[in-house]
Amino acid sequence: MISEILPALRGLMAEKEVLPRLRKIEPAGDEPVISIPADCPDAIASLRAQLPPKARCATITGLGTFAAESAASNGRAAGKVAVVTGAAQGFGFEIASDLAEQGAWVALADINADGVRTAADKINAACGREAAIGVVVNVAEVTSLKQAFAQVVETFGGFDLLVANAGVLRAGSVKTISEKDIDFVTAVNYKGYFLSVQAVAPIMALQHQAAPEAWFDIIQINSKSGLTGSNKNGAYAGSKFGGIGLTQSFAMELVEDNIKVNSICPGNFYDGPLWSDPEKGLFRQYLDSGKVPGAKTFEDVKRFYEAKVPMRRGCTTPDVMKALYYLVEQRYETGQAVPVTGGQVMLA
Ligand SMILES: NC(=O)c1ccc[n+]([C@@H]2O[C@H](COP(=O)([O-])OP(=O)(O)OC[C@H]3O[C@@H](n4cnc5c(N)ncnc54)[C@H](O)[C@@H]3O)[C@@H](O)[C@H]2O)c1
Repeated sequence: MISEILPALRGLMAEKEVLPRLRKIEPAGDEPVISIPADCPDAIASLRAQLPPKARCATITGLGTFAAESAASNGRAAGKVAVVTGAAQGFGFEIASDLAEQGAWVALADINADGVRTAADKINAACGREAAIGVVVNVAEVTSLKQAFAQVVETFGGFDLLVANAGVLRAGSVKTISEKDIDFVTAVNYKGYFLSVQAVAPIMALQHQAAPEAWFDIIQINSKSGLTGSNKNGAYAGSKFGGIGLTQSFAMELVEDNIKVNSICPGNFYDGPLWSDPEKGLFRQYLDSGKVPGAKTFEDVKRFYEAKVPMRRGCTTPDVMKALYYLVEQRYETGQAVPVTGGQVMLA
């Protein structure tokens, strides 16, 4: 019930196309009280009928009292509520940090329970406000997603932006990679993206019904391997190519709910733990497996991959954020896969 009522309430409290964050507060006693029966066929109509014009606060019987809160700053993401999956580390953490720095409220969602809470605490300390929460989720499981996103709705009222970033990699030859590894990569990268959108789209659609002028965004962090094949890395590349099929299909369908759906396809992010972790990172794996001929150090492996990039360097989170803000701010684009690869992948 909470995942239906609060998004609709924040939509009805929107000022033009900007929806407020909803915060649960202690009732002062003078708030309008709204009752929505469990079997109500049209919760939005019922809310609309009971909510006084310009109300910024309301008690919903059985759920609590909620106050509308507007943007705390003027950044590029000011006042938006975002959820970033796979945000305990790497791109996800840095994307969530940047969104918070730019004025958003951010839910970091990750399978790593300790990591995601620590990550949210770090963001709050850095921006000096309660901008972030950490929630535990396995994006490959429907029930887990429902529970996690309900927690986000309870805390912030709904969502303006989903960054579907959670992703995993198991490299290996098609001749030898195990079925277990194929299933693992497909479950997180492909099905996990599908299920994340399935969980978030109905909530955004409710917000749209209540606030028809507002637009919402779903942005998948894909990969250059979603645009071009990746040698001995078929499970990963296939899952990412599939993700672009989902992005295009979801974009066609969800435009009716004012939801734009796009993918960002970054090049290699050498600074993140996926590459740099000294024991498990790709520099270590490629060095140990002899994948890069003659390489003796991490630097040798890095130089080998940088040489494939016209701009001769890896991708960074600021590179990705420029694409992300472009996609959010651009009102005339959906279903796109935007490369951020220093020219390594060029679109026709
Ligand atoms: N690192 C790169 O070079 C690179 C390049 C292009 C695209 N990408 C993509 O960017 C995204 C992030 O990559 P990264 O390098 O930051 O990875 P990372 O391994 O550093 O972080 C991934 C995060 O996702 C979480 N996660 C894994 N499975 C999950 C699940 N089932 N449910 C929820 N969370 C889960 C992990 O706990 C981790 O915190 C991925 O989709 C990846 O494919 C990465």
